[in-house]
Amino acid sequence: MSSILPHGGRLINRFVPEQELERKLAEAKSLPVIRVNRRTLSDLDLIGVGAFSPLTGFMNEDDYKSVVERMRLADGTVWSLPITLAVPDYIAETLTIGSTAAIIGEEDGVIYGTIDIESKYVVDQLKEAEQVFKTTDTEHPGVQKLLERPDSYVGGSVHVLQRVQPEQFGQYYFDPADTRRLFQERGWRTVVGFQTRNPVHRAHEYIQKSAMEIVDALFLNPLVGETKSDDVPADVRMRSYVSLLEHYYPADRVFLGVFPAAMRYAGPREAIFHAIVRKNYGCTHFIVGRDHAGVGDYYGTYEAQEIFHSFSPEELAIQPLFFEHSFFCTTCGNMASSKTCPHPKSHHVALSGTKVRALLRDGICPPPQFSRPEVASILIEGMAQSISSDV
Ligand code: ADX
Repeated sequence: MSSILPHGGRLINRFVPEQELERKLAEAKSLPVIRVNRRTLSDLDLIGVGAFSPLTGFMNEDDYKSVVERMRLADGTVWSLPITLAVPDYIAETLTIGSTAAIIGEEDGVIYGTIDIESKYVVDQLKEAEQVFKTTDTEHPGVQKLLERPDSYVGGSVHVLQRVQPEQFGQYYFDPADTRRLFQERGWRTVVGFQTRNPVHRAHEYIQKSAMEIVDALFLNPLVGETKSDDVPADVRMRSYVSLLEHYYPADRVFLGVFPAAMRYAGPREAIFHAIVRKNYGCTHFIVGRDHAGVGDYYGTYEAQEIFHSFSPEELAIQPLFFEHSFFCTTCGNMASSKTCPHPKSHHVALSGTKVRALLRDGICPPPQFSRPEVASILIEGMAQSISSDV
């Protein structure tokens, strides 16, 4: 059985082999140090396991410029988001090109890997924000994170020595090599990937199941890295996904595994990135609905779909499946979108995120046409816990 090729043709593996580990760790202790936060550690790990294939490290200046300006690596391969290592100036000054530095977790002091320094460069972060996020507004959570970082970047190949251990739900962490093997073992020729940073509500379920009608299986791949503070925490979401799958999905056609990346909120560019990464995990198809990876009003409702037309199907080599805004229509008596429902908005069950959060905070389940009761009760419980731990 053939499986879909990783982006760039080869699954990258930047792990130091077992037999060299002890020696490399000992060597790393005497190297200059770059301290990084959890967000950068998750990038390091995802490069290491090949989720970001063909990247072998943090971007050098030529790839960075090319990605920011034309959504391609310097060699022309499609790549839409910069994956970079920012370091304070006083650290950058101590690092020489051709040398190696240790990458250390700023919270725990653990040596997670090393980087062979191939380039050092200073960037114009406002230009990066404008090109990548289409705004320089500091209210935008992705722009905010970008501008908090130093503007000196270092690029080069990495070697991963240790991994960040998940605190919870360890059984749902799979590397691309694992998912590729597991999909094959199950005999799935076509797998649709679903990115989410939210609980799965009825609209999500509807588009997933519509896609499942034409492929062998669904890879439910919730993002569990850093998200903005008002998004539902990953542990609560995980409990809700497990319960939803148990009650409403066929166990032999769904695979739940987390995507331990940080959310960028870069809308259209992040949709391309999300699709490419899911190809690396072995998906053949990828769902892009309304305002994918968007936040506030920064992006048009279908901009994240339109951007796919900037590239040829061959160079993306994963099939995007586009869905219109979906809802429950009380007159149709089922889930629908403007493509399938002729009734006006007044017939649709539409709830804003703010309204849903308010209901859940008050311990009230949103209507079953919006959210499955099993999901709603887990969210209510999660909200109650976070409120009691705040006081
Ligand atoms: S995202 O930031 O991870 O994209 P979210 O978890 O809300 O946010 O969305 C997951 C996927 O479902 C995205 O492809 C998004 O476009 C799609 N989606 C979310 N809500 C709807 C909806 N009501 N109708 C159609 N697609 C939707």
